[in-house]
Amino acid sequence: MNIIHRRGWDMPEHLATPEHLVFSRRALLVGGASALAMLPAAARAADSKWQHYPVPDLYPAKRNDKFKLDRAITAEKINDNYNNFYEFGTSKYIAEASQALKIEPWTIKIDGLVEKPQEIGIDDLIRKMTLEERLYRHRCVEAWSMAIAWTGFPLAKLVAFARPLGAAKFVQMTTFMDPKMAPGQNLSWFPWPYIEGLTMAEATNDLAFIATGCYGHPLDKQHGAPIRLAVPWKYGFKSIKSIVRFTFVDKQPAGMWQKIQPSEYGFWANVNPQVPHPRWSQATEEVIGTGERRPTLLFNGYGEYVADIYKGMEGHQMWM
Ligand code: MTE
Repeated sequence: MNIIHRRGWDMPEHLATPEHLVFSRRALLVGGASALAMLPAAARAADSKWQHYPVPDLYPAKRNDKFKLDRAITAEKINDNYNNFYEFGTSKYIAEASQALKIEPWTIKIDGLVEKPQEIGIDDLIRKMTLEERLYRHRCVEAWSMAIAWTGFPLAKLVAFARPLGAAKFVQMTTFMDPKMAPGQNLSWFPWPYIEGLTMAEATNDLAFIATGCYGHPLDKQHGAPIRLAVPWKYGFKSIKSIVRFTFVDKQPAGMWQKIQPSEYGFWANVNPQVPHPRWSQATEEVIGTGERRPTLLFNGYGEYVADIYKGMEGHQMWM
């Protein structure tokens, strides 16, 4: 995040897809095979892309209407071309480089303070869950935001599947480590692999979501295929991508950014417009792709879901 900050609307005009087109494509997908057959050949070829991703037949999933947005969903092409994925480089325009990510096979390890450590293939894990679509805001500590249609399942379901022991206080999540595949992992000043963590209360909160898809299809590589976290009340760096391991621990995990610069990035990282980051005011945010600046909301507007978790912890540094 210590990189040149370009604005969303600096991206080439041809990358922008009008939202009505994004949604007419979704409607076609919902319409099933006969609707797909009506797509032009180029669009059908694009859809065959998902055959090499986990369980493409499960998308699109039914939307859970409980989670409402106060703004338009960011157009898919805008979102696909403005990402942070430091394993592949420090640019926001990392979509192409991140295609080097190999997602077949992909195995998830569950270990630490659990009844029985286990490994499970990504397809098997996803098929054990019920996928749903959720519309979430996404707020980066760099003071930009998007709104995304994720598909996935509550992290609480994965915690239940893992069967943690009573001694487990935190879930630590780890990204793959493969410097040959991901050139950014050769940059030695990053303490790879990317790690993030949540308390058990946070991990089992209804809002904590494991995304395996977005915009009605499996997760693109630049978004952290095949499985990532989405915790929308926290700054985006907590939402770790391309997870290979969930470890249940009794000590607070130190995330990668926290290890690099503890005075700027902390464990809690809850969104708070009143507490500036040393380099970015958090009062407002740039809504990527719109040219709009909006006031930032406490907990990114999700206080009704999560504020109770932090009752009695007022003295803690929960805002970075
Ligand atoms: N996870 C991994 N493994 N590597 C990363 O570089 N970047 C984080 C987070 N998860 C990152 C990561 C940051 S800083 C942000 S803002 C979000 O992913 C960006 O997610 P997006 O590219 O889907 O918007």
